[in-house]
Amino acid sequence: MWLETQRLVLREFQPADWQPLAPILVNPQVMKFSLTGILSASQTQEKIESFITSYKKFGFGKWAVILKESNELIGYCGIAVEQIDNKDETEIGYRLEPNFWGKGLATEAASAAIQYGFEQLKFPYILGIVERANTASVRVLEKLGMRYERKTIFHNVEMDVYRLNCKN
Ligand SMILES: CC(C)(COP(=O)(O)OP(=O)(O)OC[C@H]1O[C@@H](n2cnc3c(N)ncnc32)[C@H](O)[C@@H]1OP(=O)(O)O)[C@@H](O)C(=O)NCCC(=O)NCCS
Repeated sequence: MWLETQRLVLREFQPADWQPLAPILVNPQVMKFSLTGILSASQTQEKIESFITSYKKFGFGKWAVILKESNELIGYCGIAVEQIDNKDETEIGYRLEPNFWGKGLATEAASAAIQYGFEQLKFPYILGIVERANTASVRVLEKLGMRYERKTIFHNVEMDVYRLNCKN
């Protein structure tokens, strides 16, 4: 899996990527809206292992986001299988290093991931689940063309479910 956008490459994580990912996932600003809170280096290694397990099991998962101009790993973005309201769903997710926020990069990464999900993986729809207070993430979902669908309780947290249907 290799996706290229104007400014980014999305590729599968490798175990060694924990080195650039750990400083991102230990940052409270990045993990403010997360089910886990900040991650230690070993928890980041486990997270990457879980991404790799998803590639093996489903053929997709959360991918490393690389800034082309510097070859720097600036976060992750991709599609995961999550149980939402007792159903396995495909969910878009993203998390980027704060120095790179506000430049449209999450939207650029997520739209490439969604296009891949619809065209290559043939998903009929993709969901986004977000806490209402996470305004930047809600805005990204809206910019992707997602529509608010319903509320849910996800791992004991009230979340909003957004949905984008494949147009084909
Ligand atoms: C959510 C996140 C990935 C967005 O990344 P990004 O690259 O800055 O996103 P974009 O630049 O594509 O778009 C962000 C949008 O939110 C808006 N925004 C940013 N902060 C905001 C805030 N505090 N309140 C309202 N809007 C905000 C921006 O103005 C922009 O909208 P615009 O293009 O209409 O101006 C990034 O903030 C992040 O990593 N957050 C922490 C992790 C996280 O919460 N992930 C989502 C879990 S559901």
